[in-house]
Order: sequence, then C-alpha cells, then structure tokens
Amino acid sequence: MRAPGLRVSKLDVEFIDRGKIFTALSIDALGAAPGSSLALTGPSGSGKSTLLYTIAGLLPPANGRVVWNDLDILTLGEAARDSWRRQCVGFIFQDFELLPELTPIQNVLVPATFASFRIDATLRRRARDLLEDFSVPERGGPTGVLSRGERQRVALARALLFDPPIILADEPTASLDAHAAASVIRVLIDRARKEGRTVVVATHDPALIERLDASVRLEHGRMPGKTAA
Ligand SMILES: Nc1ncnc2c1ncn2[C@@H]1O[C@H](COP(=O)(O)OP(=O)(O)OP(=O)(O)O)[C@@H](O)[C@H]1O
Ligand SMILES: [Mg+2]
Repeated sequence: MRAPGLRVSKLDVEFIDRGKIFTALSIDALGAAPGSSLALTGPSGSGKSTLLYTIAGLLPPANGRVVWNDLDILTLGEAARDSWRRQCVGFIFQDFELLPELTPIQNVLVPATFASFRIDATLRRRARDLLEDFSVPERGGPTGVLSRGERQRVALARALLFDPPIILADEPTASLDAHAAASVIRVLIDRARKEGRTVVVATHDPALIERLDASVRLEHGRMPGKTAA
C-alpha cells in the first residue's frame, strides 16, 4: 500500500455557541509527507482536537479540502467516509471512548465487530499481543476499573488493531509516566519511520514533540505567521 500523505487547504471549521457561529479553526495550508509524523501543538482550546477530528472525517468543515493521498475525503458520502476511516485510520481519542464494562481485549476488538470481521484466533492473538506490548494488566476485569494511563494504552492498542496506514492520536501520552510514555512514543515513531504510516499527534509533551518529524503550533484555531488567503 502506498504510504498516505496529508494535504489540508483553506479549511474553516465553525461551531455554534449560544446561537452565534464562531470559527474554531481556520487553516490555509497544512501537510504531512507520506510516512512522516507531525505534532499539533498549542494551548488548550487552540483547536488541536478539532483539527484531528476534521482530518479523520469525523467533523465536517464549513469549507476546505482534506486530501489523503489523492482522496479528498470531504467529497465522500457519510457511509463511504465511515468505511474509509475504518480501513485507513486508527484514532486515539483524548478521552479514549472505551466501553468501561467490557474487558480490555473486548475493547481492542470492538473495531472488528464494526467492520463485521470474523474475530478469529489470529485477530484475538494480535489484540492480546498489543495489550501485552503496552503492558496492560490482564486480570479479566472491566476496563472501567483500570487506571487512566492503563486505559490510554488500551485505546492505543485498539487504534492499532488493523495496523492502519494513518494514525491520529489526541494527547496519547497525557496520562502516562515517563517510562510508559517512552514506549508509546517509540511505537508511534516506529509506525511512521519503519512502516511508512502517517502519524499526526496532538500533544503538549516536549518529549514527544522533539521525536516527531515536524510540528505546527495552533493559536485560536490558526497557525500564527500563516494567514488565511
Ligand atoms: N462541539 C463543539 N461545539 C462548540 N464549540 C466547540 C466544540 N468542540 C470544540 N469547541 C471549541 O473549539 C475550540 C477548540 O477546541 P479543541 O477541543 O479543538 O481544543 P484543543 O486544542 O484540543 O484543547 P485541549 O488542549 O484542551 O484538548 C474551543 O474553544 C472549544 O470550546
Ligand atoms: Mg484537545
């Protein structure tokens, strides 16, 4: 599979706040080369998560283009975009979006249920291996009782189940100690460098930012120094 690169142009994302439209994101141009990693940095509320949702096709912008390889995902209908996302994107949500009553392995296998994949022994083994790689304890209990850092690693394992060509991670080291963060950082970097995946990460973590190939800073939904045309 060709490594997917990202091109974003003339993007505006609007929200409605107390009946008034406000522009949360206005980005003239942004890209990530195929097989590279990009950090999205900036203060809380600057639009990092909003940008990740938009490039994942989870949030439709008011204007603009989001092109992965040669595919402008905004031209797809909702069902086609969902199917593209399931095949191509591993998304690690800032608040994980795990099902607390399910066990970690059941959570990791959730995308397989959505994709109506048969959950065979190989897939189950892969889920178990990912959890082991990320040192998630296997006690057979519900995910909801795990620590925040452990749940973060379950979310990471789930995002990597199908080894997607695009990995979008929203503050993936925010709840981790230095040791656990280092192993997550290694996994993300390896995916980009060795396996030609494109990795985009929203983060405040200097240890993560300095390991990624490039970084852009957002302020009030804009990239300072770059004005929208
Ligand atoms: N669904 C929504 N409706 C209205 N406003 C929203 C919505 N989602 C985000 N916003 C606003 O858009 C702005 C950007 O939010 P976003 O969550 O992208 O910031 P962030 O950079 O990820 O912050 P943090 O570092 O705290 O996670 C904020 O002002 C936020 O309040
Ligand atoms: Mg955020």
